[in-house]
This record gives sequence, C-alpha cells and structure tokens, in this order.
Amino acid sequence: MRTHINSLVIRRAKPFLKWAGGKQQLLSQLEKYFPPNFDRYLEPFVGGGAVFFHLWNTNRLPEPKFLFDNNEELVNAYCIVRDKLDELVSLLTTYQKNHSQEYFYQIRSLDRQDIKLSDVERAARTIYLNRTCYNGLYRVNSQRQFNVPIGSYKNPKILYEDVLEAASLALHNVSIKVMDFREVTALAQTSDFFILIRHMTPLVKPPALLATPQIVFGKRISEIWLKYLKS
Ligand SMILES: C[S@@+](CC[C@H](N)C(=O)[O-])C[C@H]1O[C@@H](n2cnc3c(N)ncnc32)[C@H](O)[C@@H]1O
Repeated sequence: MRTHINSLVIRRAKPFLKWAGGKQQLLSQLEKYFPPNFDRYLEPFVGGGAVFFHLWNTNRLPEPKFLFDNNEELVNAYCIVRDKLDELVSLLTTYQKNHSQEYFYQIRSLDRQDIKLSDVERAARTIYLNRTCYNGLYRVNSQRQFNVPIGSYKNPKILYEDVLEAASLALHNVSIKVMDFREVTALAQTSDFFILIRHMTPLVKPPALLATPQIVFGKRISEIWLKYLKS
C-alpha cells in the first residue's frame, strides 16, 4: 500500500510522459515571470506538466491547484498516476515484459476494437505507447485512433517507477480535468496564477484574449503570455 505521507521524500517530480512542446528546457527562462504569491494555481495546457512539477519541487504550489488539458487520454493518465499507482505499475510491468513490435501494434489497436478498457488500462496503454512509439508523439486519426508507428528503440524502458511515484505524490490533492482552455479562462480570478503558455501557435491571438474581462487576472499571466509571443 503506497502512502502520500512521507516526510523523507525528496521532491524530484518530473514529467512521466514525453510530451511535444514540454517546457522542461525553458524553466530557467520562465522562472523570472512566475509570481511570488498567488492564491490558486490553474494550468490549462498541462501537457507533460514540466512547469507544474517544477513549482511543486520548489514548494511553491498553494491549495487549491487545478490542471486541465483537452486530451482525454492524457488527463486520464494523470488521474490514474494520482489515484491508482499500484494497479498502473503492475500493468506496466507486464507491458515491459511483453514488449515487441507485434505487442506494440496489438496494444495500439485496442482503440480500433469493440473493447471497453478500464481507466487503468487506458492509462497504462497511453504510457506504454508514449514510451515505445516514434518520438513519443501523440497523434490520433479522425476516428480518434492512435496512429503513431513504433519507434526505433532497441530496448525501451517503459516503467519508471520512481518517476511515477514522485509524480503521484505531487498530484495528490490536485484537481485534474478535461477542459478546453477557453472554458478554463472563465474560472480564473485576479489572484490566481493562471499559466497560459503553449509551444505552438496560439489558437487565440493575444489582443482578443486580453480583451475579455476574465483575463484581467492576467496582469501576471499576460506578462508571460505576451513575452512568450514576442520571443
Ligand atoms: C505544449 S503542451 C503543454 C506543456 C506544459 N505546459 C509543460 O509545462 O510542459 C500543450 C498541451 O495543450 C493541450 N491543448 C491543445 N489545445 C488545447 C485546447 N484548446 N484546450 C486545452 N488544452 C489544449 C495539448 O493536448 C497539450 O497537452
């Protein structure tokens, strides 16, 4: 039985998925824009969670904290890492043992069959595919079927138990939901740290975004956002 109460744990959480556009390499550049004090933490594009884990490691996250993303499989994986770590590790151990090209395509094809996977199975599948597919990409076709081919790794490591354990601890008490970022902006308040950074071209141009009343809170975040867009 795992417990989240362990005062001796050294904070060392980091992304448990490879995720395109992750901010791990940008943390030192972003750091200077992070507000020193804030009431709540809301992150609408959690992705690999680099910023979240960094703030957690450095003990700067208040209660409550909210993570969002519009990718259902990603959000499910976060929830399972938070809530059902033992079951997840057990499944990933099996996937690690069975991994082969044939097995990869068998697991990949589970979303093309009439099978209802449990949430833990879905999370294990997401992590397994992320660790073994080409470049850790996440891509689905118009039927929302995962279609990235196998990567050319000789012996990929699928189960990083210590990384999952640290992430689980960091995610304890975090509210994690599937939501489009436009809806998330409506939840934000002036005193929140609402971190709106995306790696790709923004879906909404800053003037429109900043013109909405909800974004008044964004004095802090808009500094990050605008600076980011200029760079
Ligand atoms: C580059 S990642 C975020 C990286 C993350 N902030 C970090 O610290 O590493 C971008 C994420 O935005 C999510 N995303 C894209 N469009 C979205 C939308 N309209 N609403 C919510 N999430 C969205 C994607 O699913 C992806 O996980």
